[in-house]
Amino acid sequence: MKIATVLGARPQFIKAAPVSRAFQTYGTDHPDRPVRELIIHTGQHYDDEMSAVFFREMSIPEPHFHLGVTSGSHGQQTGQMLQRIEDVLLHEKPDGVLVYGDTNSTLAGALAAAKLKIPLAHVEAGLRSFNRLMPEEINRVVVDHVSSLLFCPSQVAIDHLRTEGITAGVHLVGDVMADALSLFSALADSGSDIHERLGLAKGAYLLATVHRAENTDDPERLAGILSAFGQVDEPIVLPLHPRTRKVIDSLGLAVPKQVRVIKPVGYLDMIALEKSSRMILTDSGGIQKEAYWLGVPCVTLRDETEWVETIESGWNQLVGAEADKIVHAIRSFVRPESRPGLYGDGRAAERIVDLCIQSRPST
Ligand code: UD1
Ligand code: UDP
Repeated sequence: MKIATVLGARPQFIKAAPVSRAFQTYGTDHPDRPVRELIIHTGQHYDDEMSAVFFREMSIPEPHFHLGVTSGSHGQQTGQMLQRIEDVLLHEKPDGVLVYGDTNSTLAGALAAAKLKIPLAHVEAGLRSFNRLMPEEINRVVVDHVSSLLFCPSQVAIDHLRTEGITAGVHLVGDVMADALSLFSALADSGSDIHERLGLAKGAYLLATVHRAENTDDPERLAGILSAFGQVDEPIVLPLHPRTRKVIDSLGLAVPKQVRVIKPVGYLDMIALEKSSRMILTDSGGIQKEAYWLGVPCVTLRDETEWVETIESGWNQLVGAEADKIVHAIRSFVRPESRPGLYGDGRAAERIVDLCIQSRPST
């Protein structure tokens, strides 16, 4: 059996790491039922610190195909990916295609597979922000509607799919990012020296990330976020996504002096930074969940989130991009007393691999 995994953006490397590992384990445990994972990297993210570092640190197999699409407008980027993925699928004839999340790489992989009538599996299916102005929301909706296997991290995701009339092939498997965190947490403890390198006292800083188009492409929102950061009394470490760096540079926005801007970091350094931060300020999807799993309060710099359970738990506050609201949330945050388990048990990858293999159409 041959499964083609299509990926291309930072969070997808992290999500794919435990699944690739589970494919390898399945192969070792079932020598009579060989399974081969073919990795297709679209090239959407290409800087070393946005791509290769994750393959090295997380022992993800080298991509079999690197399509080199890089950056561009949505149409140009997605269109080039679609064309190049289709060529690979026509040549390789996989039994199934696996895509992750909601990026343009996800959309292109899904459309290429669906048009060639290759069964498509979507990891992180059913997530919704209900904001169609987000490119990610369009990608999620389209991908879910052309998928034959839909792997959901939560009951809420399953309910969203049912509302849209999707019930076949839907499985509650948990979240592969929980798998990644439990696989690599100890390695982050022993292997990251980021605090020493930055001269940073553990527990005495906030960690921030900002990269969503709704924040970077709206100067008022980006200025609001930076202004809030400038009103915080503690140091803020900001591993800066290249998209945001480019906007800050081109608009000539001033970064407040207490903000320590660093290049994007690898997964192990990121987990180490998250674990020892007093609070996380972010517009990332994945980081909201990591903050929750690690028991770090999170302030989300967006108007809506797909990860509503983290908000309901009280560990995550949704504040948008207005400076006053962000500052108020940081100053008034009260840590909840309990933290119920969310998004599975860290064994989602195993279930995904089993379900992909079981669902192979009989030929
Ligand atoms: C993409 C996803 C977003 C996800 C994010 C994860 C889409 C529509 N968006 O957003 O959902 O949260 O990845 O990080 O797919 N750039 C570099 N080097 C790189 C990669 C990007 O300099 O290695 C710069 C380029 O100027 C590029 C910009 O970042 O134009 C944006 O990159 P792109 O991949 O288009 O979208 P992201 O903002 O990264
Ligand atoms: N991440 C990382 N280095 C960074 C920033 C983020 O390793 O400098 C990791 C983070 O821990 C999480 C994932 O990248 O696992 C989230 O990706 P991102 O925020 O780019 O995308 P999103 O989740 O919003 O789609």
